[in-house]
Amino acid sequence: MYLYGTSKVNEYGHLEIGGKDTVSLAKEYGTPLYVYDVALIRERARGFKKTFEQLGVPFQVAYASKAFSAIAMIQLAMEEGLSLDVVSAGELYTAIVAGFPKEKIHFHGNNKSRDELEMAVIEEIGCVVVDNGHELQLLEDLCAKHGKHMPILLRVAPGVEAHTHDYIVTGQEDSKFGFHIDSGQAEEAMLFGEKSEFLDVLGLHCHIGSQIFETAGFLLAADKLLSILKDWHQRHGYHAKVLNLGGGFGIRYTEEDHPLPASQYVEKIVVEVKRLSEELGLEVPEIWIEPGRSLVGDAGTTLYTVGSTKEIPGIRKYVAVDGGMCDNLRPALYNAKYEAVLANRMEDEPEETVSVAGKCCESGDMLIWDIPLPKVKSDDLLAVFCTGAYGYSMANNYNRITRPPVVFVENGLDQLVVKRETIHDIVRLDLSLRETVIK
Ligand code: LLP
Repeated sequence: MYLYGTSKVNEYGHLEIGGKDTVSLAKEYGTPLYVYDVALIRERARGFKKTFEQLGVPFQVAYASKAFSAIAMIQLAMEEGLSLDVVSAGELYTAIVAGFPKEKIHFHGNNKSRDELEMAVIEEIGCVVVDNGHELQLLEDLCAKHGKHMPILLRVAPGVEAHTHDYIVTGQEDSKFGFHIDSGQAEEAMLFGEKSEFLDVLGLHCHIGSQIFETAGFLLAADKLLSILKDWHQRHGYHAKVLNLGGGFGIRYTEEDHPLPASQYVEKIVVEVKRLSEELGLEVPEIWIEPGRSLVGDAGTTLYTVGSTKEIPGIRKYVAVDGGMCDNLRPALYNAKYEAVLANRMEDEPEETVSVAGKCCESGDMLIWDIPLPKVKSDDLLAVFCTGAYGYSMANNYNRITRPPVVFVENGLDQLVVKRETIHDIVRLDLSLRETVIK
């Protein structure tokens, strides 16, 4: 059994996280419940930062808050000295309410609305990562309207796509994200930004994928971006201050996953960017990265109570829990794999292979297929590991099921940071039939 961070088996044979017995947490807050190991988030954040510091290069590690955005989480990122990526007015507003330093907020997205960009301009955030020409013009107009200045990065599609162990290099990059390079769109955007009295083109950005276990894709992307910068430097005298290589650093969900430590990704990237910049005669840019999953993913555990079970002789035993695709969409959406344990009986040996079903009215709502567990009974507490990234953030109200609360645990203390949604919340936005008819 693989245990993450501060997780361990306590004297009662229960799973403990952050010094808290998960059986007690389930009693206090109910299930389903997301539990975050705060010490592990801190450790992950420090892991990325430490390597940059040791290598002595200017950097920013921006937490991609799409992985899990909530006020307390943003405040934790702030405590750890991270910068922040947001991708919507909602994520930006969460950051502002959390009191996150605005100058360290970066705004992403391939179709930011006028209102979202205006919010970014008025709030004077750190930078907008501009994705296309439409947005560039909108931003220019909004800055002019408000008499504000905005640093920008240009997101480009580098023609490198990476996922776990594979990456593909495509000449003609086919992606909804970023400026196309070969057709000159990116260059045009840089020239537009350089001419503008409101925009300051800090440099280039790319994001090559997610759950990546190798460094090769990042290095290829860095090579591509630096060669563009070299070209722009020679032909236009353009000088980039920042190179942002995005996120995507992989984590261990199951024993099949073998991620690299943060230090290795960072070291390889820094060494390559330094080497190439020197070779190309460019000043070494500030290096930014944007981890989401690798900061919070393995720090999150979801606790469920087992309800009904269904044994089909000779075929399979289904064990149903009180959540499912409403609190973890990833298995249904990506066929994502997870490991789980019985948190109330950690010392019992596995006796049977079962499949964990969610409670949504959909056959595809299966959380885990074929997992060995002790003989599972109703009211057992099932802990699914590694749900910290894209779990709560992709939770939904399918079947009008309420979203679970989030609890932070650290050093034997627990704190509720997101309340459980109630059935009253479920109808909060609804209006009665004919309530809005104009008389
Ligand atoms: N930066 C940009 C521009 C991104 O688009 C993303 C993720 C990240 C950073 C952070 O990537 P990470 O380090 O978390 O892999 N819902 C999917 C993941 C979608 C990721 C989208 N972009 C999942 O549950 O696996």
